Amino acid sequence: MFFELDRKTLLDSGTVLSVTPMNVLELAKRRRTVRKFKNKKPPIEKLLRALEAAKEAPSGMNAQPWHFVIIESIEMKKQVREICEKGERQFYEKMKGKLGEWLQEKGFTWEKPFLSDAPYLVLVFADVRAPFAVQSTWLAVGYLLLALEEEGLGTVTYTPPNPKEIEELVNAPKHYKLQTILPIGYPDDEKPKYERKALEDVISFEKFEEKES
Ligand SMILES: Cc1cc2nc3c(=O)[nH]c(=O)nc-3n(C[C@H](O)[C@H](O)[C@H](O)COP(=O)(O)O)c2cc1C
Repeated sequence: MFFELDRKTLLDSGTVLSVTPMNVLELAKRRRTVRKFKNKKPPIEKLLRALEAAKEAPSGMNAQPWHFVIIESIEMKKQVREICEKGERQFYEKMKGKLGEWLQEKGFTWEKPFLSDAPYLVLVFADVRAPFAVQSTWLAVGYLLLALEEEGLGTVTYTPPNPKEIEELVNAPKHYKLQTILPIGYPDDEKPKYERKALEDVISFEKFEEKES
């Protein structure tokens, strides 16, 4: 007989803590952005284990200003998608410059099907009363991305143009500001990872090298 464990009981049970460690460099090299997901829903334990890693991130004054809202219901995902796509339509109408060119070249549009297709959405909030709240929360996002990779899950760090409306939808207390929405599931996206700069192009020893010009 199959028992769907109550989410709270699961958190208290400690089952989310069994991890098979993997090399961080390998995970970082392998991780890529995923915008298409398989229908099959991953077990919640995988997501909770990744969040267990995320909350170990360092933070200004150890304030741990992050909060993660997990959305699984079809109805809530639909509402999130509708709100975001409304904002995206307005954004795409006005958009110009480098970002506009880049988005067009890559084939991005106002449509965000991953917001309703992904089995889970994780909405990441920062309590902006804390010192360095935004920096700390994004560090936790970095941890989370690698931990999801370790679990065989994919995601995209989606940054909606109209975060306020989402904050209202999930009753976020007024000091909690939405940083990103992470649609999460098993990857079904052919798109390869974008190329990274070489190590020698992004480091200097002691000082920046003098520029020739
Ligand atoms: C701060 C931040 C904001 C991003 N916002 C979006 C977004 O709104 N929509 C999207 O499709 N991808 C978004 N991305 C994903 C980036 O486009 C992606 O990480 C980058 O192009 C490199 O691709 P890769 O992760 O597959 O190597 C964002 C990434 C970061 C770190």
